[in-house]
Amino acid sequence: MKIESLLQTIKIIKDHRGTVQPVEGNGKNLPFAIKRVYFLDNLDADEPRGFHAHKDLEQLMLVLRGGCTLLLDDGHQKLKHNLVRGEEGLLIHKMIWREMSNFQPGTLIAVFASEHYDESDYIRSYDDFKKLVK
Ligand code: TYD
Repeated sequence: MKIESLLQTIKIIKDHRGTVQPVEGNGKNLPFAIKRVYFLDNLDADEPRGFHAHKDLEQLMLVLRGGCTLLLDDGHQKLKHNLVRGEEGLLIHKMIWREMSNFQPGTLIAVFASEHYDESDYIRSYDDFKKLVK
């Protein structure tokens, strides 16, 4: 798993009034159509989250403020990446275990998802995940 294959450029358009950062699905800057957007806010540096994979869901994670450390694991290789505010969005494909930690104060993250929320799509046990990716 190479970080270059997961990073997606989400260009920031800047002028004297501020910045605009458009996220467009269906192959524009995301390889999927967006069915759901959710935001992670009020995060605590000492409360890591994630600890699951998805059977089918594809996601793009974009930091709007602050940053965090992401651990990605495809069952064979682990990758640690510091995701911070900028043009870098991180694509998290299906069957990738993720853990998020070290949230900077005030961190706000937008997540663009290919499917509606569906608890049955989650794999919340690392042992089950390891068996499935074998
Ligand atoms: P979860 O995905 O487990 O959070 P994280 O991976 O960041 O640790 O979601 C936390 C809770 O929110 C869980 O009870 C499911 C619920 N939830 C929804 O109802 N809809 C959603 O779109 C998401 C992402 C979560």
